[in-house]
Amino acid sequence: IQSIEHRANLDTIEIEGIPLIDLSLSHTTDINLLVSEIGNACKNWGFFQVINHGVPLELLEKIKVAAKAFFDQPVEEKRKVKRDEVNAMGYHESEHTKNVRDWKEVFDFLIKDPSFLPASPETEDDEIRTLSNQWPETPPQFREVCQTYAREVEKLGYKLLELISLSLGLPSNRLNGYFEDHTTMMRLNHYPPCPCPELALGVGRHKDAGALTIVAQDDVGGLQVRRKSDEVWVPVKPTPNALVINVGDTIQVWSNEAYESVEHRVVVNSERERFSIPVFFFPSHYVMVKPLEELVNEGNPPKYKPYNFGKFFVARNRSDYKKLEVQNIQISDFKII
Ligand code: OGA
Ligand code: NI
Repeated sequence: IQSIEHRANLDTIEIEGIPLIDLSLSHTTDINLLVSEIGNACKNWGFFQVINHGVPLELLEKIKVAAKAFFDQPVEEKRKVKRDEVNAMGYHESEHTKNVRDWKEVFDFLIKDPSFLPASPETEDDEIRTLSNQWPETPPQFREVCQTYAREVEKLGYKLLELISLSLGLPSNRLNGYFEDHTTMMRLNHYPPCPCPELALGVGRHKDAGALTIVAQDDVGGLQVRRKSDEVWVPVKPTPNALVINVGDTIQVWSNEAYESVEHRVVVNSERERFSIPVFFFPSHYVMVKPLEELVNEGNPPKYKPYNFGKFFVARNRSDYKKLEVQNIQISDFKII
């Protein structure tokens, strides 16, 4: 269970929510307008929703059906594709966030199969590990729907990276090179009803380690964002046909904190199960993440030391399986004070 200070207040509250941005250019006569909307949302919230995002709506529906069909199976069936410390992809039912168990089960797969990551977080160890997907035999079509959806979201991911680059005053393709051998992962989340929703969280408060996350959610609600202006937990209202976007740690560092990765969590409830489908955009493992040279100068020196994305990522994920004695690694460990 969560310690008292991290438990959610389950009263429903109506407060100013995250921006909703229409990505269709016909509505915004000028791309500069769209770019500035994206820039403002990244700067003020770190979170926004998009509509007219180009991911076919029938696919969005299909992936939610596929997620439900997979998790509805008996646990013995799901455990056939169980992930472990060697193979990090597949089904997992006991993830921890900040050393507290999450009230959820997940299925993870890579968009690029195989992908490559360091074998260990140790700097002296330069062994690279090959990661590949595990696919269940049932439900039929599960794999196909997952892969088709992932490809569409990948396109949207590049489009958003381009808009974000432009919003930082950079050429649109400035960030693309970091994703040549990306380690991007898609996750299906299932949050079952919880008998004690005031004590647990579906996912404990955390920031996403990658560049960008694109989340599809159903109509149940539960995702909350820590509003930058006053640190109040704000619900992300389920919006038909919309996708939720958030800036991760990597963009925080690249932008030298012009954009910040914002804390978020998932609240559970005792009545309805919830499904959500995030795609986490992760750079290639060998990328050294550091503030972009174009964005730093004498008056705005780099706020972070360079770090190897793969090593950082592997170190961070070590705490997924068990409680560690110490808090796991965060980008603040690379902060130049
Ligand atoms: C995550 C996450 C949000 C959600 O998996 O990192 O923040 O709505 N999920 O499930
Ligand atoms: Ni998250």
